[in-house]
Amino acid sequence: MRWLVTGGRGMFGTDLVELLHECGQEVVAVGSAECDIRSLDSVRATVDGFDVVVNGAAWTAVDDAETHEAEAFSVNAVGARNVALVAAETGTRMVHISTDYVFDGQACAPYEPDHPQNPRSAYGRTKAAGEWAIRATNPDALIVRTAWLYGAHGPNFVTTMRRLAGERDTLSVVDDQLGQPTWTRDLAAYVIALVEGGEQGGYHHGTSDGQVTWCGFTREIFRLSGWDPGRVQPCTTREFPRPAPRPAYSVLGHDHASLGPWEERLAAYLERARATATGGR
Ligand SMILES: NC(=O)c1ccc[n+]([C@@H]2O[C@H](COP(=O)([O-])OP(=O)(O)OC[C@H]3O[C@@H](n4cnc5c(N)ncnc54)[C@H](OP(=O)(O)O)[C@@H]3O)[C@@H](O)[C@H]2O)c1
Repeated sequence: MRWLVTGGRGMFGTDLVELLHECGQEVVAVGSAECDIRSLDSVRATVDGFDVVVNGAAWTAVDDAETHEAEAFSVNAVGARNVALVAAETGTRMVHISTDYVFDGQACAPYEPDHPQNPRSAYGRTKAAGEWAIRATNPDALIVRTAWLYGAHGPNFVTTMRRLAGERDTLSVVDDQLGQPTWTRDLAAYVIALVEGGEQGGYHHGTSDGQVTWCGFTREIFRLSGWDPGRVQPCTTREFPRPAPRPAYSVLGHDHASLGPWEERLAAYLERARATATGGR
């Protein structure tokens, strides 16, 4: 199969491209310089000739979207619709990556894929609009929602906490938001499995199993790194205000084989990062 990955040099896109290479697949990665998904002409000039297009391109600056919603919309909604339209025109299977932020974060049981969207942030609104546009344009597209991503190829929570651990004696971390930390490489494997399995179009959830708060997640990062988790202190969302509202409950229900428990996958990620840093495998 010939794969095209838009946003192919982002945190998720880079892991997907790496994994596809390892699986012996033919893959082309494009960034915004080669394919700006806001432009239908640019997407038309790029997408033809592939069996699968994975749209990993997005405006991901959640807080900046509050003051730049139109710009975020042009990528997350118009751009997603452009990819869906051209994929439908050319008979290319589309996979789109979406987010837990399309939900309101007020639930107390996992959000199932067919749960109604009710975004509370500008970023969430633009991603929800992208989902609607794709469903209307290309019902065969796979829309994979994920959350709390970390990986080797972009700024993320794990990297930030490990850096802060070297700079401060103690850290205060939010303990009243629940979610599912997810390794981009696991999400990549899930996307490949959905496509290879000929899965039906529609919504799918690609996150690790279990649930934890940011504070609990940080304590596990510390424990697995050999540092005292007691250095991580709980605080509330109210004590750490951000421009965009954060969902209190971001646990997604799974309709498929799981990606694995978040603790086990975090350990695997850190082990791989250590092996890479020491030149091993
Ligand atoms: N990070 C998370 O925790 C998280 C959580 C839930 C869902 N998601 C979703 O997962 C997906 C991947 O996220 P990520 O963290 O890997 O993102 P990322 O590292 O920020 O990468 C996004 C990529 O999008 C590209 N891009 C931005 N504007 C573009 C445009 N107009 N045309 C074409 N490409 C454009 C950028 O490419 P250039 O650098 O070449 O401009 C960038 O490499 C996104 O859909 C995001 O919404 C992420």
